[in-house]
Amino acid sequence: MRVVLKDPLDMHLHLRDKEMLKVVAPLSAKSFSGALIMPNLVPPVTSVEDVRSYKERILEAVGKERFEPYMTLFFKNDYDYDFLKEAKKYITAIKLYPAGITTNSEDGVLSVDSRSLGSVLEAMSELEIPLCVHGESEGFVMDREREFLSVYEDLAKNFPKLKIVMEHITTKESVSLLDKYENLYATITLHHLYITLDDVAGGLLRPHLFCKPIAKRPEDRMALRKVAFSAHPKVMFGSDSAPHPVDKKESFGCAAGVFTAPIALQALCDLFEKAGVLENLQKFVSDNAKEIYSLNPPKKEVVLVKEEYEVPNSFKNVVPMFAGEKIGWSIESVS
Ligand code: NCD
Ligand code: ZN
Repeated sequence: MRVVLKDPLDMHLHLRDKEMLKVVAPLSAKSFSGALIMPNLVPPVTSVEDVRSYKERILEAVGKERFEPYMTLFFKNDYDYDFLKEAKKYITAIKLYPAGITTNSEDGVLSVDSRSLGSVLEAMSELEIPLCVHGESEGFVMDREREFLSVYEDLAKNFPKLKIVMEHITTKESVSLLDKYENLYATITLHHLYITLDDVAGGLLRPHLFCKPIAKRPEDRMALRKVAFSAHPKVMFGSDSAPHPVDKKESFGCAAGVFTAPIALQALCDLFEKAGVLENLQKFVSDNAKEIYSLNPPKKEVVLVKEEYEVPNSFKNVVPMFAGEKIGWSIESVS
């Protein structure tokens, strides 16, 4: 059995910088046409110069592969209209983080609401710059995403022309919210389609599956699968592949993030095939994103075959999801 995927896109990707960038960027560029690049570097990507130079470093790391890094800015509440108008030439979206909610988000906003963020959101809405949001409150870890839903509603109601992407949704309630507001969209990761909290902490603790937002309950995973498998037009694949060096994961104080970029398409094929919905994978990994973000990525055809792929134990110093395990699908060719 074979699947041909055209121009796969990863609409939420952490490529980091320096040595790590050199390790992970080629792995994404090998099988994806493009990706939305997260701006949570240290310090974060907050100026046009930051965006331009980071994009250059990414392209250098990628080498000869055809791969478009769709750049983002890290949301700051002091961006003004003229700055955003200039920045729009270089970016695809702006990513908003509540301060301290996840890796390298210390410079995020202290409070997310339509009033305090009004002038930036107004300008983004007018300039048609999409807003990507890490939607978690400061509450109990399992409730953080649910508690944030009223914030999404506030933003969606007050800025009806602003495209708002609920990043890496993990709960059935977030799935339900999608159809309530025209301007709400979502990305879903590979790992949240696969795992629940049980896989992370139900037996021996598995640090390589620890991420933000934390994986939830079986019924949440079921809702995510349902909406992804049906390739709901407002849902896109965003791996949230978030590499950390092995010593930061297998350590006291494990860093949050699951590294999935090099195994994502193979594992998605496996999931979609088992659910009998392979024909919907193209929309989930590319067409929906093209439509939502009006993208025209470099042409790439990825052929996957139903042959076992043994996932390496590590890529340099980063351990991927399913390390050392077998996935039922492998990449046959990319052209
Ligand atoms: C991400 C990271 O490591 O940058 N970590 C994660 O657990 N997903 C940040 C993020 O997207 O939350
Ligand atoms: Zn992320």
